[in-house]
Amino acid sequence: MNLLGFLSFDIYNDLFYCYIVKSSDLIDSSLRYARDTVRNLAPYGSQWYTRMTGYRIPSTGREADIYRILLFPDCRNTREMVDNVLEHRTLDLGSGTTHFSPYSLINCVARKQQERDDDQRAMIGIDARIGHPVGSPDGFSQENLRMEKMRVIANHCLRKILGDQIHTDIPATHGYMQQADARKLPFKDGEFQQILSCHFLPCWLNGDDLDQSFLEADRVLAAGGTMRLFPANFYKLWSRDRICSLLEGPQSTYTHDQVRLPGLWQSLLMSNSHTLILRKKEK
Ligand SMILES: C[S@@+](CC[C@H](N)C(=O)[O-])C[C@H]1O[C@@H](n2cnc3c(N)ncnc32)[C@H](O)[C@@H]1O
Repeated sequence: MNLLGFLSFDIYNDLFYCYIVKSSDLIDSSLRYARDTVRNLAPYGSQWYTRMTGYRIPSTGREADIYRILLFPDCRNTREMVDNVLEHRTLDLGSGTTHFSPYSLINCVARKQQERDDDQRAMIGIDARIGHPVGSPDGFSQENLRMEKMRVIANHCLRKILGDQIHTDIPATHGYMQQADARKLPFKDGEFQQILSCHFLPCWLNGDDLDQSFLEADRVLAAGGTMRLFPANFYKLWSRDRICSLLEGPQSTYTHDQVRLPGLWQSLLMSNSHTLILRKKEK
């Protein structure tokens, strides 16, 4: 048997691995490592984008893997995250152009529901500009859309080379996406068990808009539900007394966990970026 020694440094988990492997396994694990590295670098690009251009982070149609890293640190893989969403009716606030990506969380969830013949919507994404992807306030342009398309195609090719299953369908259409303003949500009180906000709340909004959106999110979230926000280190900027009392103090409605992104990259590039998980207490 053709055995080789192999040392790998996993930048995402700050781990060194030592493998004694067959050469075919070595090729497999090297390819897997390259694939994971490319995927894991994606969220850090957006921070540099903001620094360099001064624009707020654009909607890049973030994929399910990125949502998992940024919002679901308690899920070990994408499948666990999708199962979590299928069990907890979920609202994605400021979902941007994610529904254009076949690999976004909302499309993974919709695909799973299609397979199960389940026509309930386990996840809904709302954005102010659904149907009008181009324009302000993040300067999203035709060029951005073109680049986004190229990125998705390149990603498909990479997945194909690496032997992954390829999806090109976009099942999250009817009823999964809605144009709505986060400051006035078209949903009933307590309609959702989980609320997600990736690069939206609190980083996209300021002052009253931020407070109003948070209070709306609180209204539509059922008791016992969860909010997952990224990046949320600046949640302390939320100003209204009412919000502070929801989050802090003996009568608070929420408990919270602030979770650091994993890996060396957190300490190098994103030392201020945390995932904030708010759990609304049972009544
Ligand atoms: C950076 S994008 C995030 C997109 C997506 N969550 C992701 O991570 O790929 C922020 C989105 O918030 C949307 N937005 C801004 N103000 C809004 C509001 N008041 N109500 C709903 N969406 C809003 C913008 O249109 C934009 O698409």
